[in-house]
This record gives sequence, structure tokens and C-alpha cells, in this order.
Amino acid sequence: MFPISFGSDNHSGIHYTVISALQKVNVGFCPAYGDDPLTAAVLAQLEALFGGDAAATFVMTGTGANILALQSVLSSFHAVICADTAHINVDECGALQKCIGARLMPIKTPDGKLTPKLIAPLFLLDRDQHHSQYKVISISQSTEYGTLYTLEEIRALADFAHEHGLLLHIDGARLANAAAALNCSLKELTKDAGADIISFGGTKNGLLFGEAIISFVPELSQDIRFYRKQITQLFSKMRFISAQYEAYLTRDLWLECARHANAMAGLLAEKLAEFPQIKLVNKVEVNSLFVKMPAAWIPILQEKYLFYTWDEAKHIVRLMCSFNTLEEHIEEFVESVRELAHSK
Ligand SMILES: Cc1ncc(COP(=O)(O)O)c(C=O)c1O
Repeated sequence: MFPISFGSDNHSGIHYTVISALQKVNVGFCPAYGDDPLTAAVLAQLEALFGGDAAATFVMTGTGANILALQSVLSSFHAVICADTAHINVDECGALQKCIGARLMPIKTPDGKLTPKLIAPLFLLDRDQHHSQYKVISISQSTEYGTLYTLEEIRALADFAHEHGLLLHIDGARLANAAAALNCSLKELTKDAGADIISFGGTKNGLLFGEAIISFVPELSQDIRFYRKQITQLFSKMRFISAQYEAYLTRDLWLECARHANAMAGLLAEKLAEFPQIKLVNKVEVNSLFVKMPAAWIPILQEKYLFYTWDEAKHIVRLMCSFNTLEEHIEEFVESVRELAHSK
């Protein structure tokens, strides 16, 4: 165990409210695979939160949420356009290709964000029967690079996708952090901005496990439950995911946790600004910061704190906060940096 980690929001624990929600449903017996009243009620609650006429589905992992959302709308001859830094491209071990057979078309971006301008050149050439057919534009909100799409930027991508007969998918493993930062509702961030299918993550923001997929075009993803079983994301004791989401939605726990994580990243950035040796690589928008620091400092700090190097050559590290990052953690880290800054 590490007392302090800035490695990932996945390094956090479980919110105590979620633990007690799990304990509350840990009595007696209950039908499995989602055939229980709590699951029906929480799915309906999620559907209402995202604006009605949506269809919500629970899965166990964020990778599962991406693959299942995409599988529900893709055939093997399709292609998904994404940023080259996208989790589906870099960190899912080819799951999309294995499970669906579809292709990824990664695009280089300066900041982890796609734009219609970056995508447009793909459409200059006709794609006939010899080529994979573009079907989905997939974005992450917030991105793996800690950046955010504005509502207008999502709308522009959705319009571009729809004009070209494509769908817009949002990997929302950190959708809560994005909504907190943009100060908008989950519906405004997704459905109202034109997204077709999205995920609303919980694991990184206080849950033990569990992610929700929300489809705004349910008729397109009507076979999702069959695919869910095939890719082993149908959790038998479903009430334990539902109970966590019920707690997550109650009094907007998801928002409180995300606001806190974002605020802690902001505070860390503010404190690190004291050191001329440390440069913030991009603006802190959500719960992560990317900083360039003297190469020699990195292994010394890593002896005490868990965090990862993002770009070895440029000495850029990623520092990530979560719902259970405390101000004391930040103070302690900054003190360690101060010692290095003042040592010869
Ligand atoms: C943007 C994004 N999407 C999806 C995932 C996948 O989550 P999991 O590790 O639960 O499969 C992650 C996890 O790091 C992520 O950062």
C-alpha cells in the first residue's frame, strides 16, 4: 500500500457511502443478472438523468463499457475514428479489434482532442467495398491528456459525424470530472450536445467497480444485452453494481467526488507554480496535471509517491488526483519537491 499516490484515480479507494450501500443490499437473496427491482429502478433513474428515451446498461469495467457500446453499433467491416491517445487505441490491448473485428483510425492531435478539421481529410477519398467503412467518431471526455471538450466542440463533432452518416461515441470514464469542470449537467454534456452512445464511469470516482453505458438511440443498440453476455460483462450479482450507482446518484455524490478531485488537481498546480524548475505542460482542466520537471527529481519523488512518467524523453510526468486525495497529501508532496529544489 502507498499512503499517497498521484498515479491514477484508479488508485483511490471506495467512497464510504458506496461501502454502506453495498452492505445494505448484502442481506437475504435477490434474483441475479439484473432481474431485480433495484437494478430496474436505478437504470430508470440513470435514463431520466440523461434525458429520458435513453437506454442504460451496466457493465463491470471501463474497457468493457467502450467495447460493448461500440460493438452494439458496429459490424466487423466498420472503422472507428479516434485520437491516437484514446484509451481504446492505446490501453485496451486490441479489445475492439478482437471482439468486433472493426478497425481503429487513430488521428494525431496536439492535445488529445479531435476536431472536424482533423477528421475531414479522411473523407476526401471514396471508401468503397475494399475499405473499412467509417461508422463512429469516438472521443474521451475528459481526455487521457487531461483536456476537455467544450459543449460547442462536442456539438461540432456530433454534427460532423451525423452529416457523414456516423455516430458520436463518448468514452466517459471521467465524464463526472468533465461535467464538474464545465459546470453543466450530464444531459447537456452528452445527449444535448448530440452524442449517440456514451459511458458514465464510476470506478475512478468512488465506486468499487461499475460503469454505465447510455444509448441515446436505443434502437441502434437493441442487441446490447446479448453482446454484453458474449464479452463477459454481464455481472451475475448485479444488485451490487446497482446499489453503488444508487449511492452515486443520491445527492449527486458523483459530482461532489469529481469536484473534489478537480479542485485537488488545481491546488497541486497552484502549489507547484512556486518552483521555477517545474513547468505545467497544459492548463489544468480536470483532475490531472502534466508537468515537466528535472529528470533527476523523478525517481527520488517516486520512492515516496506513486506517479507515472508520461514522456520519458521530455521528463513529463502525470499527476492525478481523485475523490480521496487530501490537501495534506498535496502539502506533503510539495514539501518533498521543496527539499529537492533547495538541495545542491
Ligand atoms: C479514458 C479511459 N477510458 C476507459 C478506461 C478503462 O477502464 P478499465 O481499466 O476499468 O477497463 C480508462 C482507464 O484507465 C480510461 O482512462
